[in-house]
Amino acid sequence: MKQDIAEVLVTEEQLAKKVEELGKQISKDYEGEEITVIGILKGSNIFLGDLVRKITVPVYLDFMVVSSYGNSAQTSGVVRILKDLDDDIEGKNVLIVEDIIDTGLTLAYLKHNLLRRNPKSLKICTLLDKPARREVDLSIDYKGFDIPDEFIVGYGIDYAERYRNLPFVGILKREIYE
Ligand code: IMP
Ligand code: MG
Repeated sequence: MKQDIAEVLVTEEQLAKKVEELGKQISKDYEGEEITVIGILKGSNIFLGDLVRKITVPVYLDFMVVSSYGNSAQTSGVVRILKDLDDDIEGKNVLIVEDIIDTGLTLAYLKHNLLRRNPKSLKICTLLDKPARREVDLSIDYKGFDIPDEFIVGYGIDYAERYRNLPFVGILKREIYE
């Protein structure tokens, strides 16, 4: 697996430190409140698992599965909900947790979709952001790292369902997906 990585972008130690900082900030911002954390599967799973353990206010977990990429490294622009939330979010403080924001199309769609369900508040937390590729305007409330326009894997993020279990975030060698 490791031999397919061109460069490590974010180390395990950097990830742990950033997740702790984000958890602290989120705990402070929501003090006295409860949060419904919505994980966008599968990519956000590992980040989310680490993040919620650094949050000190009560957390209710729910998940959505959306499709945007399929098995290719190119975005299709089409977002499909493959699994919706188990519960209603009306009147709840919703925090969407995403692995990486690229064009922004997935989250713009999800935000629009979830806002129609009348949450009390709705914020976005992403581990990684590729601002160079943004196609829609999107405000991000909590962000781990800005990254360059490269195809990355690890810490939950895949290429064709592989590399999710790498403990760091790295750039995938081009010859693997080209
Ligand atoms: P967006 O709709 O273009 O913002 O795409 C967001 C989704 O595309 C993310 O949740 C990832 O699942 C996937 N994605 C974007 N960039 C990468 C990447 O570099 N590696 C792996 N998946 C990516
Ligand atoms: Mg994703």
